Amino acid sequence: MAHQIRITPSILNADFSNLGGEIEKIANTSDLVHLDVMDDIFVPNFTFDFARASEIIAISKLPVDAHLMVADVDLIAPKYAEAGCASVTIHAEATKDIRQTLRAIRSNGARAALALKPKTSIEPYLEFLDQIDMLLIMTVEPGFGGQKFMVDQLPKIARARKEIGSRAIWLQVDGGVSLETIELAAVAGADTFVAGSAVFNAANPAEMVTILREKAQLATD
Ligand code: DX5
Ligand code: ZN
Repeated sequence: MAHQIRITPSILNADFSNLGGEIEKIANTSDLVHLDVMDDIFVPNFTFDFARASEIIAISKLPVDAHLMVADVDLIAPKYAEAGCASVTIHAEATKDIRQTLRAIRSNGARAALALKPKTSIEPYLEFLDQIDMLLIMTVEPGFGGQKFMVDQLPKIARARKEIGSRAIWLQVDGGVSLETIELAAVAGADTFVAGSAVFNAANPAEMVTILREKAQLATD
């Protein structure tokens, strides 16, 4: 079955000194911009604190898809919704009260999403499907861009697609998505694709987004 395809480029490997300009490069061809927030606790890398992230959200020409890779995310997640993100993703492994945090994100006006690290099984989290707008299956260990796509996550993507059934939940993949791997993820059932290095290392990032979209579409037509 063909799903609507969305490409959400990650600016993790873009030029941090000119993020407004980097987002503009992809604004005409992308659906949302993926903002990787890392705290050097939940993952061994740091990107932005909330103040800096808020500035980026305010200047972004694209709706923002915030991927929060931070410990004790329960209190800060709704603030990202309030700051204007279109979508806020929390990690199952970092959240104390998943149900309440998802609810708080939605009540602050954003789509609520749940992310699973590669070693996290999907089963314990199926009960939250009725409370999310997007499920994110990580296809690398979170923390860094430019890693290799983990093909052993494909069965989890397929399982997620089956469990989502007719619900209007987006199924996102993040990590190592490129011209070589996007078809695999699309065939397994993903419809929303993060791509960082594949887009921002390309000579023409906007055009790379279009090519990735076409590949994903063709794979599922
Ligand atoms: C990894 C991040 C990803 C990453 C994607 O922790 O969540 O969004 O930036 O970068 P690529 O596409 O290079 O794997
Ligand atoms: Zn991400």
